[in-house]
Amino acid sequence: MSSKPTIIDCDPGTDDAIALWLALGAPELDLRLVTVAGGNVGLAGTTANARAVVGLSGRKVPVVAGAERSLLAPFRAETAVHGEDGLGGVVLPEGPPLTPGTAADAIRAELRAAAPRSVTVIGLGPATNLALAFTTEPALVDRVTELVLMTGAWSEGNITPAAEFNAWNDPEALHILLNLGLKPVLATLDLTAQAFVTPDLVARLSQAAGGACWKAALDILRALPSSKRFGHRGFPLHDPCAVAWAIDSDLFGSRDAFCQVELAPGPSRGRTVIDRWERLGQPPNIRLMETLDAAAFFALLEERISRLP
Ligand code: BDR
Ligand code: CA
Repeated sequence: MSSKPTIIDCDPGTDDAIALWLALGAPELDLRLVTVAGGNVGLAGTTANARAVVGLSGRKVPVVAGAERSLLAPFRAETAVHGEDGLGGVVLPEGPPLTPGTAADAIRAELRAAAPRSVTVIGLGPATNLALAFTTEPALVDRVTELVLMTGAWSEGNITPAAEFNAWNDPEALHILLNLGLKPVLATLDLTAQAFVTPDLVARLSQAAGGACWKAALDILRALPSSKRFGHRGFPLHDPCAVAWAIDSDLFGSRDAFCQVELAPGPSRGRTVIDRWERLGQPPNIRLMETLDAAAFFALLEERISRLP
């Protein structure tokens, strides 16, 4: 089996950490570069977490720091979900140092060295680093085989009533990604709600043996607070859905759609207006993940992460 050359841009973040381990444990993906922005916590925290997560896997994947603010404003953190440290208080051994440079440069260098339509790019945080990379060298779009993003919602948001956290933190950057002509694949909140983690599920997953990465992933799942949005029955596991698509898109039902992100200041800023039914008569600019085979998704998560050291 050939593995897909892959870049992940992220802001770890509890679910980013699990998504990174899923990618690192998947022979389907050849993770070449991890770039990091601020987001869930400040950049110092997200980079330390990315280094630790990659380090625990024993894999030598460069981790490069990027944006500490969005294109137009500071990031707003989400410590109520991810804790002050971004990993829900789960302490990992310190990882290897950052690779020098900045995220957008590293993304461009990786793409420049790649064959046409060969690289899978996965965005798990605010879109700032990816937008900077592509706006400064738009020709590199042709090196990308697929752009997969955890962002947006077709119904309500999670950081405001209208907006999802990643989209809200840098709507201008997301607007750029939506208009590159790459037809990104979106895992929205409506999709990630189907990757729902309950205490029963965590108890079941805890029975699987695994190494330090799997144990840390379980510790993170135990540390995450249940969500008010879901009556405190559990919480949705967002970012691993985007990585799971890159591993096996057959786990998902999907359709083409048109997506526009609201940029005006005010209560709708960051909202992704997603037209699933061609009401606006616009040509589709995204592939939208709509349904998830949750049992197969959690089986994949367990199998791929538990095989890591
Ligand atoms: C997204 O926001 C972050 O808090 C998560 O890591 C995920 O990427 C969900 O809205
Ligand atoms: Ca994230």
